[in-house]
Amino acid sequence: MVNRLAFSLSFALLYSVAEISFKVGGFPAPFSKVLSLENPPMEGKDVVILQNLLLRSPFVRPIEKSGVYDRETSEAVASYQKGNGLPSNGIFNTTTASLVLKQLMYDGYKDDHTVPSGYKFKVHIPVYKDRTIETIGTLYDSNNKVMHTFRARCHGAMDATGKEINQLTIDGNTPTGLVTFDLNSPEPNLKSFGPYPVIRAVKGLKGNAAIGKNKDDTFLSDYRSGILLHTGEWDHWNPSEPMPNSLGCIHVHPTDLHTIDDILVHKLGVVVHKNPFGENPYPYVPQGILSIEQID
Ligand SMILES: *[C@@H]1O[C@H](CO)[C@@H](O)[C@H](O)[C@H]1NC(C)=O
Repeated sequence: MVNRLAFSLSFALLYSVAEISFKVGGFPAPFSKVLSLENPPMEGKDVVILQNLLLRSPFVRPIEKSGVYDRETSEAVASYQKGNGLPSNGIFNTTTASLVLKQLMYDGYKDDHTVPSGYKFKVHIPVYKDRTIETIGTLYDSNNKVMHTFRARCHGAMDATGKEINQLTIDGNTPTGLVTFDLNSPEPNLKSFGPYPVIRAVKGLKGNAAIGKNKDDTFLSDYRSGILLHTGEWDHWNPSEPMPNSLGCIHVHPTDLHTIDDILVHKLGVVVHKNPFGENPYPYVPQGILSIEQID
């Protein structure tokens, strides 16, 4: 009798644990839970990202990017569901989450072929939706003159199940958009980052990189920091092969980073700022600009 009870209890426990992990596992990152209208309301970065993405849908009227799952947000989700032929209940579940990411991830960001004033250099990196395809990046001086072209790889890591993770997740693909960019002294780990100064993506200004609550809070650098343009002394890699996946950073060949650093410092007067690693807010005025544009 006691044993039977223990058995059915542990069975019930197992079942509910399995159910919970199924629900969590079922959400595509950056989302991880059902969002619905509650009292007090649910809040978080997932809500900020959802609100920013919903604003791209033709079925949704403008909403505030507040990070609070309020009535307005729940109604926006309901309109989005209705517009897509889903039962419209304003509850953000795995079905709605997958559709939002599939339909609304593209930020429409286009490089405008200019260098905004006040910056000493610009780097443009085209990317494909399939980030395993390496592309050719370009370094410009402040007059928009091409100084160097180089191979770039922006494919992020895989999740625990080996599935690709998207650009709005930690360690996923490099996010698109316009970002301030600055030269920092080398990272200590030569194997992963190479021996040269790295260039740090500082703060999102446009596109997915700028997703946030207001102008002071952006996906880069408040939700995801540490994206660098760097090289590495990668095991078993030789320069005729594609570069390894990153954790969202932009990988370049060692010879290219060496050349880029040389141009920045000796031709464009860019200063190597002492690497502040993850320090936020970033302690220097960024000297450059990074433009990452999806071209398919
Ligand atoms: C999510 O909610 C929709 C209603 O919008 C429903 O049709 C769908 O079955 C739900 N999906 C899951 C996995 O519960």
